[in-house]
Amino acid sequence: MAVRLLMKASIDQIVDEGGDIRSFYFKPEDRGHFPPVPAGAHTLLRVAKGMMRQYSLCTPPGDSRYRVAIRLDAFGRGGSRVMHEAARVGDVFYLSYPQPDFPLDPDRPSYSFFAGGVGITPILSFLYALRGRACRIRLCYFARADGAVPFEQEVRTLCPQVEIFNPTKNRPVNFKDLLRGSRDDAIYCCGGTRFVAGMQQAAEVLGLGDIHVESFVSVVKAGYLGEPFVVDLPRSRHVLQVPSDRTMLEVLLEDGVDIDYACEAGVCRSCIVDVIEGEIIHRDQCLTDEERRTLMTPCVSRGRGRTVINSL
Ligand code: FES
Repeated sequence: MAVRLLMKASIDQIVDEGGDIRSFYFKPEDRGHFPPVPAGAHTLLRVAKGMMRQYSLCTPPGDSRYRVAIRLDAFGRGGSRVMHEAARVGDVFYLSYPQPDFPLDPDRPSYSFFAGGVGITPILSFLYALRGRACRIRLCYFARADGAVPFEQEVRTLCPQVEIFNPTKNRPVNFKDLLRGSRDDAIYCCGGTRFVAGMQQAAEVLGLGDIHVESFVSVVKAGYLGEPFVVDLPRSRHVLQVPSDRTMLEVLLEDGVDIDYACEAGVCRSCIVDVIEGEIIHRDQCLTDEERRTLMTPCVSRGRGRTVINSL
């Protein structure tokens, strides 16, 4: 339920970008051209049945295809392995309309961009959007632990002043020292959860206020998540127990329920279900107050007692 409209597309090209990252270029199969992509937007790609994954769109201007970059994560939830090991040119997929969740304020006189690894992808779209504008741009790009610098040539072409920090060559960087040089800039940061959290913490200590961040959600679910509760699915006549150490989404998937999901962090709206009875403990960051009266995100939110779902 509430799965966003998906577009049919096929892989047109696959490019190795270094550091276990591959770019996948998609072309439309059910329309003449894709909708335009605002800078910083992402798409939800249906990698396999019941497996939606969120990727930044970073197509260079003038290319009518959609490009996403996917890092192979051997210990991830399997989406990147499907794309790296099985996806071939010509394969058909479904992907969502662009979701502008990490928008760029286009009218600032100066910007500082901080990217970690594949977090460079939304920053690439910002650099393309700002090309030719009279603004100052600072870009700090943290290479991967193995020293790989994906998209290096493209980054250097778009932003010759880029500062590349390579852990195999440079000493560890102090985020506060780094941010001191960006006090007056619009600050955007994208990368892994720890990288982004470190930058946010440093910005807070320096009193820089909110910085714009996008992190690759790495949800570690262990231990106590909340009180156990019961999920009642009258349409399929299933009644499921959600224990205190599992999410409702995990229990639904284990039961074979056909439900989409992507972020598993309550931000992407992929997994929304409608509730017709029961109290909901909302932990998402994507529903409005009005929506919370009847909808919930089972990836993070929980019920109390008995929760009756209409849409599954
Ligand atoms: S999977 Fe993204 S909100 Fe639930």
